[in-house]
Amino acid sequence: MDKSLQVSWIYDKIAEPYAREFLTPSEHIEKFLALLPENAKILDVGCGVGVDAHYMMSEGFQVTGIDLSKEMITLAEQKYPQIDFRNQDIRELDYREMAFDGIVASYSLIHIPKKDILELLKNFYLLLKHNGKIYISLQGGISGEIYVREPFKPDEELFLNIVTFQEIKKLLRKAGFSIVKNFERPSRSKVEFDFTKLFIIAKK
Ligand SMILES: C[S@@+](CC[C@H](N)C(=O)[O-])C[C@H]1O[C@@H](n2cnc3c(N)ncnc32)[C@H](O)[C@@H]1O
Repeated sequence: MDKSLQVSWIYDKIAEPYAREFLTPSEHIEKFLALLPENAKILDVGCGVGVDAHYMMSEGFQVTGIDLSKEMITLAEQKYPQIDFRNQDIRELDYREMAFDGIVASYSLIHIPKKDILELLKNFYLLLKHNGKIYISLQGGISGEIYVREPFKPDEELFLNIVTFQEIKKLLRKAGFSIVKNFERPSRSKVEFDFTKLFIIAKK
């Protein structure tokens, strides 16, 4: 099975426990929002069950959330019917049809194979308006492509792309972005994957 289809199949199975566990907006996202104009249009790629999308909407932003997992999107739509959610692959977005002030990719690029990341970042660059910003969070500390036991479904192994700061910054710069801020912290709970958490805000 294609890695991304396997990932969305697993998220379909774990959507409900995921929605019960992860209830708070992504760390440092408020610093990203502070850099955007009022009423900015934001695309949340790999939006999951819509927690960030809802937070950003409540802060006055216009949000579109996309996710490959039908169940994650179904829960997002049930919880936040006022938000525009779409069941779509983030690798199939057409920049000629959309333009955003900001893109949020919170722990979604972790499921994209390394060979596809640069093309994806280049497409995000095209999807952004002039001076647009991107927020990315990742699993990191080391570099690798691995399969890990999914904490909510330990009989299934989930594909993860783990990156170093150096690696992702290099790819972002190659795609045309400049780095604005970055943060990191160690893993701290049993339902988190046991890798350093990396956060980057970059601009077009
Ligand atoms: C770890 S969850 C993060 C969800 C949410 N952004 C959050 O921070 O809670 C990763 C999400 O990325 C989605 N995803 C993975 N690969 C994707 C792809 N190629 N296109 C769209 N969504 C994808 C998964 O279905 C899942 O909902």
